[in-house]
Amino acid sequence: MNPTHIAIIMDGNGRWAESRGEPRAQGHVAGAEVVRQVVRRARERGVGHLTLFAFSTMNWGRPSDEIRALMDLFERDLIAQRPDLMAQGIRLSVIGERAYLPPSLRATLARVEEETAGLTQMHLTLAVSYDGRRDMVEAMKRVSQMVADGQLHPADVGEPLLMNALSTRDLPDVDLLIRTSGEQRLSGFLPLEACYAELVFTPRLWPEFTVEDLDEAIEEFRRRQRRFGLTRAAS
Ligand code: IPE
Ligand code: IPE
Ligand code: MG
Repeated sequence: MNPTHIAIIMDGNGRWAESRGEPRAQGHVAGAEVVRQVVRRARERGVGHLTLFAFSTMNWGRPSDEIRALMDLFERDLIAQRPDLMAQGIRLSVIGERAYLPPSLRATLARVEEETAGLTQMHLTLAVSYDGRRDMVEAMKRVSQMVADGQLHPADVGEPLLMNALSTRDLPDVDLLIRTSGEQRLSGFLPLEACYAELVFTPRLWPEFTVEDLDEAIEEFRRRQRRFGLTRAAS
């Protein structure tokens, strides 16, 4: 089976730039080019949902010039990519704490989300200022409010309700989660959504990741036997 939902932790931009004696921001610029290619390939491969970790809540702790360069790059790139996304029929969504983003980036994101809302060839979600635990906290607030308002009884709280309260409510569970740069951790990415995902770690730094690497990760996924807790015979 092919993965319906692929999530990628795009890591290693900084190390890539540093290894070339360039400022870290150059790594993010090179990484943005890879995003373009990977998005295109994923759509060609018939992937329904692609979710990319672009900036974590923890990343706000980085030096302010790197943060500024990243926010500028997100905005410039979104504007540049907008016609291409539309031509490819790709719907763009954003998850994360958008209130913390610069107002002009927020406005650009909202505009592209709105313009692409009806497109169905692939659903691309960018996680920006995202952290899975924080998303769970927001979900808990929504659910508790419903209980407080008398719309919901605590006994009715179940998995579907929880998953529906998350910012990823429109997405199916993650099938394949890829992380580049050799790190083997989730760093807060989609903890509930990826709880049964197949994990693929590659030593390749994100700016060096190629569409062939994406193909290879999909092949690796196809070789895996997903059991979801069942026995080999039953799954
Ligand atoms: C990933 O690359 C991009 C972001 C986190 C924004 P890094 O910037 O984390 O690169 P390394 O891990 O320091 O090499
Ligand atoms: C995770 O990468 C976040 C993104 C790729 C956007 P980090 O580089 O921030 O994660 P850690 O610090 O290695 O856990
Ligand atoms: Mg990193």
